[in-house]
Amino acid sequence: MITVKNGLYTITSGRTSYVMHIREGKYVENLHYGRRITPMHRANTDGLLDARDIMTDTDTEAALAEKYTNPYGNSVAAAGDNWCVTLDDMCLEMSNAATGDYRSLPLMLEGPDGCISTRFYIEDSLLYEGLYADSDKTGMPYAHISPDGGDKPWTLELIYRDHHTDGDDKGLELRVIYTAFEDCDVITKRMVLINDTGVTYTVRDISSMMLDLQGRDYSVMTFDGLWTRERHAHIKKLESGIYETGSTNGTSSNFHNPFVMLLKDGTTEKYGDCYGFNLIYSGNHRERMEVSEYGKTRVLTGINPFGFAYPLKPGERFYTPEAMLTYSPDGFNGVSHNCHRFITDHIIPPYFRGRKRPILINNWEATYFDFNRRKLIDLAGTAASLGIELFVLDDGWFGDRSDDSKALGDWYVNEKKLGGTLDSLVKEIKSKGLLFGIWVEPEMISQKSRLYETHPDWAVSVPGKEIYTGRNQMILDYTRKDVRDHIVDVICKLLGSADISYVKWDMNRPITDAYSKGGSLPGAFYHDYVLGLYDVMKRITGAYPHVLFEGCSAGGNRFDMGILSYMPQIWTSDDTDPSERMYIQGGTSYGYPQSVMGAHVSASPNHQTLRETSLETRFNVAAMGVLGYELDLTRLSLVDRKIISGQVEFYKKNRELLQNGSFTRVYNSDNNTIWQVTDDKKEHAVALLYKRYAEPNQSYDILYASDLIEDAVYRVRVRSIKVKVKTFGNLINQISPVYIKEDGVMQALIGKAYAMDGETEEYTVNGATLMYAGIRLAGRFIGTGLNEGTRVMGDYSSRLYSIDKIG
Ligand code: DGJ
Repeated sequence: MITVKNGLYTITSGRTSYVMHIREGKYVENLHYGRRITPMHRANTDGLLDARDIMTDTDTEAALAEKYTNPYGNSVAAAGDNWCVTLDDMCLEMSNAATGDYRSLPLMLEGPDGCISTRFYIEDSLLYEGLYADSDKTGMPYAHISPDGGDKPWTLELIYRDHHTDGDDKGLELRVIYTAFEDCDVITKRMVLINDTGVTYTVRDISSMMLDLQGRDYSVMTFDGLWTRERHAHIKKLESGIYETGSTNGTSSNFHNPFVMLLKDGTTEKYGDCYGFNLIYSGNHRERMEVSEYGKTRVLTGINPFGFAYPLKPGERFYTPEAMLTYSPDGFNGVSHNCHRFITDHIIPPYFRGRKRPILINNWEATYFDFNRRKLIDLAGTAASLGIELFVLDDGWFGDRSDDSKALGDWYVNEKKLGGTLDSLVKEIKSKGLLFGIWVEPEMISQKSRLYETHPDWAVSVPGKEIYTGRNQMILDYTRKDVRDHIVDVICKLLGSADISYVKWDMNRPITDAYSKGGSLPGAFYHDYVLGLYDVMKRITGAYPHVLFEGCSAGGNRFDMGILSYMPQIWTSDDTDPSERMYIQGGTSYGYPQSVMGAHVSASPNHQTLRETSLETRFNVAAMGVLGYELDLTRLSLVDRKIISGQVEFYKKNRELLQNGSFTRVYNSDNNTIWQVTDDKKEHAVALLYKRYAEPNQSYDILYASDLIEDAVYRVRVRSIKVKVKTFGNLINQISPVYIKEDGVMQALIGKAYAMDGETEEYTVNGATLMYAGIRLAGRFIGTGLNEGTRVMGDYSSRLYSIDKIG
């Protein structure tokens, strides 16, 4: 709910309040953003009056507003009668260049005379039920109304005008727009600059949102990395001055995700004040936090000003991407829950909300480029026999694409390699009971391609300058409409040529030279590229609304809410090593739900790290996302086949919970991690317990749970696993009647046909016990013997536990 009343603008959601008022007749001051302070209606049963009857808005304002009693020493006084006020020490909602607020600014605008001073003062406001009225005109995705109705969002537009003192000569209009999504305690903010003057301005820097908070006792949590190690969580203490993170590689990047959190000192996973910020945007972004000497903290998020100089001609508007803000008093998990709900209810395409995602087999790590029809059909046949539901044909099916040096842009089927038309292959795979999916990389062009021969000017490069490639490829100039039309046409034709249910949309190199030979100006290139991308994605996904698209950018180089607005899941990382995935999926889970994270079981040793891990752990970790397999299933041993069909069966049985349950990081020590997914009613949950390294002579682990009903009774059962004979090395000879040589033929033969059963454990406990005391699980193997109860937990080991309410 948003109210505009008695000089107060109040945005209230279930657990938060955002309060503003006007100061000196022109500035909008933030009085509070955090835990809900807006009085709730109270039934008058206890003789106490409803707070709303005895406390007025004026009282609230008087309490919250800063008093500015004394003049400052060496500071610039704000315009107005009260020279005790300085903008440098005010929690502002909008701030102007060259007015004495020397902190980082949300807007840097250059007039035709080169002057950067602005005087945007509040003039008016608009309040209405629903989303921002111009959402569709922005060219960017935006948060939508929840498909199940839910609470209707409200929107507040604060309207500012750049004031000139010389009479009629008016400046630009600026709107700061707030939309409240009460159901998930999220507010979105954005700015719109409207040039209704007669001259062209250049926008040098414009944030989507600025938030000034009281206090300086904050840390920031960021999610950083590189290819194959995306979004590892890092916490840094904010000190006086500026901390900045972001991306300049043309995408939201694997370097620094646009999702960041601001934590009050002392905040943990479960307790404490925590803010989350994100952008519905897939290009260069910047998140800046500034702690001022006056003891306030400013947060700015939005487009990165790197290489940005956007011309705004008379009659034009500049829309910033929509930014998300959320607050929770319940620590990091509280913010994560808000973000997860926001993404599932308001970001991913409504058709896919809660819709079950098929378990897939992707041929990439099974074959790389080296495949033919026989291999594909064999892989599909084995996958079908194991219960897998979707076959994905990855890179290498088109043009002359036998390696990564060529053919991007030539989106015609290599029928020689596929042994016939795509349609015939799809039919054959579908006859095995599988759906079919295909890989594309539509933003790219190889220099060795037919497309490049015909349209060299469609590749992004600067004339006269050496070309820089990444993975031997160049970027297609999506700032040009002719390029976009061509891509929409060829990809739509491809998708119409066979029964395709899924598309993996890859993007394997970042942008370097932001230069178009026929499209945007250099200062507009990065942003226009993203607008172009959204245009293409919107047209293609709009033409095939029921096809499941999975975003990918060399794994997780573009994991953001912009992509998720068109594609309900993203390939989280090319790194499928479960040990590394615990960091990657764990880091990603702070801002994104598990239903958007592609997670595959791959071969061991792992292709990215060469680490060896058990098939059980590879599954247990992948099960905490959208499950797939990405290994050569045709070469599986009997034992591995059995293990995988058991995994697939377990995942299908628990799919609703695993994909759409509420995800919580329950416990984290140096060595043990527990994650849990829980259904809405708190009747069913699955918990993952992951152990990084085996610990000698410390024999048991504790299973803690979260989000349960204290008084309800639950049955807790471990998912049964198989333990490979090989795990025991030559210790196996302690029980074997014949000598088994380690790594010998006999061990290999036994290992292929036989594995030992893991422990069985089952408990009946109430929710309170699970949450506050934890179950002390059976002792681990510590070298003193093995019996039915022993839990064999080596390095990178794990278990899944089903928690079901029985009373
Ligand atoms: C990068 C992706 O992340 C991989 O999964 C695979 O699709 C390759 N590209 C194919 O070139």
